[in-house]
Amino acid sequence: MDIVTIDGPAGAGKSTISRMVARRLGYHRLDTGAMYRAVAWLLKEEGTSLSDTDEVARICRECHIRFDGERIFINQSDVTNLIRSPEMDMLASKVSGIPVVRERLAGMQKEIGMKGRCVAEGRDMGTVVFPDADYKFFLTATAEERARRRKKQLEIAGEIVLYEIILKQIIERDRADSSRSMSPLKPAEDAVLLDSTSFSPAEVVEFILAEIKKKRDLS
Ligand code: DC
Repeated sequence: MDIVTIDGPAGAGKSTISRMVARRLGYHRLDTGAMYRAVAWLLKEEGTSLSDTDEVARICRECHIRFDGERIFINQSDVTNLIRSPEMDMLASKVSGIPVVRERLAGMQKEIGMKGRCVAEGRDMGTVVFPDADYKFFLTATAEERARRRKKQLEIAGEIVLYEIILKQIIERDRADSSRSMSPLKPAEDAVLLDSTSFSPAEVVEFILAEIKKKRDLS
């Protein structure tokens, strides 16, 4: 299976790194966080309460998610920009703890990954969705560094949010993502751990590509 998995907490740099690695390998990139965000957006749009499990299950079962390059569509809506807000950060984290949502999205992710030549990024790519992937990485950075990066990202998108608020949200999301019972955020046993706090994206990408090459040469 030509799959590279990159898991890790919010703001560790997974999106930038997975985009660069995919480009270098000529693979496509699967942003699974965007899928959780898209479902969160749809549930809000439909005014569905997250505790209404039947309705959440129905919407999830019937929804259609499609990637077109860097854009993501849910049903007919292009939600690429709409899902990148602090509100969607928190809502997607909550939605990702609902088992029926995870089952449905993991199914879709496996289907997309089965086509091969894929860099899949998320929280449970190496542990649950693609346990047989040959190349697994777990990317971390300190919460403070991740908050600084997130603040910068939000500013580029035109959102000004206090650093202290972002840091608090990151710590809260880490806690929620790591402590949920289904597919909690944790490194796969055979993942290479990478702390990106004091490395540039280019350095992290070179490290990942070197690891992949090393493993390929051995096999
Ligand atoms: O990577 P991200 O911040 O875009 O992810 C949004 C939320 O989705 C995050 O709180 C955790 C969740 N998520 C998940 O539970 N499993 C994944 N494979 C990807 C994301």
